[in-house]
Amino acid sequence: MLEALPRLLDDPILGLAAACRADPNPGKVDLTVGIYMDEQGVCPVFDAVRQAQRLLIEAETTKAYMPPAGDASFNSGMQQLVLGEGSEALRTGRVSSVQTPGGCGALRIGAEVINAAKPGARVWVSDPTWPVHIPLLGSVGLQFETYRYYDASSHGVDFEGMVADLKSATRDDVVLLHGCCHNPCGADLSIEQWAVIADMAEQQGFMPFVDIAYQGLGDGLDRDAAGLRLLVDRLPEIIVAASCSKNLGLYRERTGATLFICNDSSSAQALQSQALVAARRVYSMPPAHGALIAGRVLTDATLRLSWESELQGMCRRINGLRSALREKLELAADRDFSFIEHEKGMFSFLGLSGEQTRRLRAEHSVYMLDSSRINVAGVNAANIDTLARAVGQVLGH
Ligand code: LMR
Repeated sequence: MLEALPRLLDDPILGLAAACRADPNPGKVDLTVGIYMDEQGVCPVFDAVRQAQRLLIEAETTKAYMPPAGDASFNSGMQQLVLGEGSEALRTGRVSSVQTPGGCGALRIGAEVINAAKPGARVWVSDPTWPVHIPLLGSVGLQFETYRYYDASSHGVDFEGMVADLKSATRDDVVLLHGCCHNPCGADLSIEQWAVIADMAEQQGFMPFVDIAYQGLGDGLDRDAAGLRLLVDRLPEIIVAASCSKNLGLYRERTGATLFICNDSSSAQALQSQALVAARRVYSMPPAHGALIAGRVLTDATLRLSWESELQGMCRRINGLRSALREKLELAADRDFSFIEHEKGMFSFLGLSGEQTRRLRAEHSVYMLDSSRINVAGVNAANIDTLARAVGQVLGH
């Protein structure tokens, strides 16, 4: 039965990370997967996470299943983190959530609930979007349309194109938005642009589905959620997929949450029950370890302070790397890279062709995606010159 199955191509992101790991060149540069790396090239464990983990292990008395919706402190901590402490939606009880296996699990549960409400619903995705969005939501049965988003010539958001395309979104449709730190392009909407999207959603009736996997890595926890919170204040229904992979560094613990913001609390409870039935069909119960750690960090005042200050440090460092990279690339390649400084979060496109990115790998052991998406958080003092020189060379300098 199984022998007829062919070997499939490697994942376009994870496959390149594996190719980099296998490259024997000690001077190789890995800018593939979106993982925060420190100056030593290590993906660090937050101090607050380490402490919460120690406390958790000391106090742990059981390995029995988690409740289907997950840990209560985690869920309330995540709702406050995403929606803000003064959120009217939280105060009026029109929010529910479930703990999920990572941000991918959160997207999947959101998609399952959308598909239960409207089988085969049309989801508008940005061009480009994170490549995994399509198989993740598509395997549930949802259909896709794309809206213009990134303009490669201006290296910014083609907002006119986005608005023109979304004019065709109807009350039966979902619009998938990146809450902040757009993956793959790093170009985000301004708050005024979020307000226009809110106007359109109000008038046309489409529902936003917001993926906020990078909250805290652009301009800070609250500013990164400002656009999403504006939608929540204005609209009756929104689904949010949140992740603790990047902002709490819990990549391998698979820790995330799907939030349902509804018209009233009985709809919020109904959607949570839908999510639980969907989760039971897919993975039954969420994993415990990461959510128990995150729940503690989010709700303990001392750990929270330590975490927020470490996260701010990461965010500042990424923004510093953006400036340093702009300077080095402009010197090496004699062209304008100022857009890198204005973009947010871990990713930017360098504006290279697929052929040029393949040459970077083959001739310089510099690994980025074929689209020239780089993980800015993988740059450090030891590799920035290699990177700039290599890019300069493939651009003919
Ligand atoms: C990325 O885009 O590199 C990250 O979100 C990791 C992943 O799963 O692709």
